[in-house]
Amino acid sequence: MDFTLSEEQLMIKQAAKDFAQSELLPGVIERDETQTFPNELVQKMGQLGFLGMMVNEKYGGSGLDTLSYVLAMEELSKVDASASVMVSVNNSLVCWGLETYGTEAQKEKYLTRLASGEIIGAFCLSEPEAGSDATSQKTTAIDKGDHYILNGTKNWITNGKRAEVYLVIAQTHVEKGHHGINALIVEKGMEGFEIGPKENKLGIRGSDTHSLLFNDVKVPKENRIGEDGFGFKFAMKTLAGGRIGIAAQALGIAAGAYELALQYSKQRKAFGTEISNHQAIAFKLADMHTKIQAARYLVYQAACDKDAKKDYTLSGAMAKLYASEVAMETAIEAVQVHGGNGYVKDYHVERLMRDAKITQIYEGTSEIQKIVISRSILKD
Ligand code: CAA
Ligand code: FAD
Repeated sequence: MDFTLSEEQLMIKQAAKDFAQSELLPGVIERDETQTFPNELVQKMGQLGFLGMMVNEKYGGSGLDTLSYVLAMEELSKVDASASVMVSVNNSLVCWGLETYGTEAQKEKYLTRLASGEIIGAFCLSEPEAGSDATSQKTTAIDKGDHYILNGTKNWITNGKRAEVYLVIAQTHVEKGHHGINALIVEKGMEGFEIGPKENKLGIRGSDTHSLLFNDVKVPKENRIGEDGFGFKFAMKTLAGGRIGIAAQALGIAAGAYELALQYSKQRKAFGTEISNHQAIAFKLADMHTKIQAARYLVYQAACDKDAKKDYTLSGAMAKLYASEVAMETAIEAVQVHGGNGYVKDYHVERLMRDAKITQIYEGTSEIQKIVISRSILKD
């Protein structure tokens, strides 16, 4: 596989890097502390095309390939993983799901505004009793002819409060198990739809994570995505691509932590020399660099598989599994390289370490990725 980047891909990578340095870096420590993310920054990401990167231009997107998307995700995540998770959810879960499986009317009504960043979306699968075990949906969408009545609770929803449009997975025909699940488009403000309190998190603290409560919410039937009973397949197919975005996020966190460690090791002196001259530190950097490059190849491979219209379930799961492990390991080592300074906020690596952890949990934990990978290789 040749990963030589085109001029356009290099430009996108540079644009994301410039935006991360000039717009995201300045307030990132404060946003982490205050658990906030200003709307102006979201709007700027929209104006630069980061919120609908792969969406066709006719729906207001940037019409780029998945490789360009992961390049941007990597650069944004080096600096601010709270920004990049918003980018990832909006692009690969919400916009991709709507563009691939939505009706023309749904695309016109929702996709165009989502892709331009005018509004943000959320993807709502997880529940108090259905996280990894995603088929155990307790939220119900009862068929009432021309509409559904939605009841239940969703947990851990990224963009939970900021979003205007929510793709909600719910059980319609209990007796059919996962073949009786539907995906519905729910709008903020629909009667009976309430946003629960914000989670106070270890990392990605600028990202708003909320539970959502649905109490007899009337959702028109034209808001169902795909055929009756397609909801679980919709979620799985969407997540297969979503995992490439999170893998790129993990890669970016790792690369960001490594770059800071490299820089610091060349400046900090101990025992009369730069600490990079101590083999224990130099070898840490060597390990980080090697693993990050291996993760990068896996992420690029998964993106290229998707662009080539090959099956990317396996390559995406491998990329997420490995890149998230590398993110955690690298960020911990980057703190070590910084010594005491690594433990305080000003040096950024402690935040990257806290942010890294989530990549091993959301969009399928590492254990779930191993289930996906092992099932795939055993089937073959
Ligand atoms: N593509 C298409 N269909 C798929 C699929 C895929 N990648 N993976 C599974 N399916 C289908 C199966 O074919 C099966 O359908 P049939 O019976 O018609 O064949 C159906 O889905 C159920 O599959 P399984 O029998 O394999 O189901 P399972 O109960 O063993 O669970 C699982 C499979 C992979 C573990 C799944 O439950 C899973 O992915 N769990 C993790 C959930 C997850 O990733 N949540 C993320 C929430 S979103 C999020 O986290 C966003 C964020 O943070 C930012
Ligand atoms: P559980 O499923 O209870 O897992 C607990 C532990 O058991 C894990 O280590 C898990 O790997 C392990 N385990 C479970 N089953 C197995 C098994 N069969 N074999 C081996 N090990 C197993 N969800 C959404 O739908 N939309 C979102 O936008 C979203 N954003 C999130 C943002 C944040 C910050 C967080 C924390 C979560 C988010 N999630 C979201 C939910 C996330 O996808 C789930 O937390 C995740 O899928 C794990 O589910 P759980 O928390 O219920 O853990």
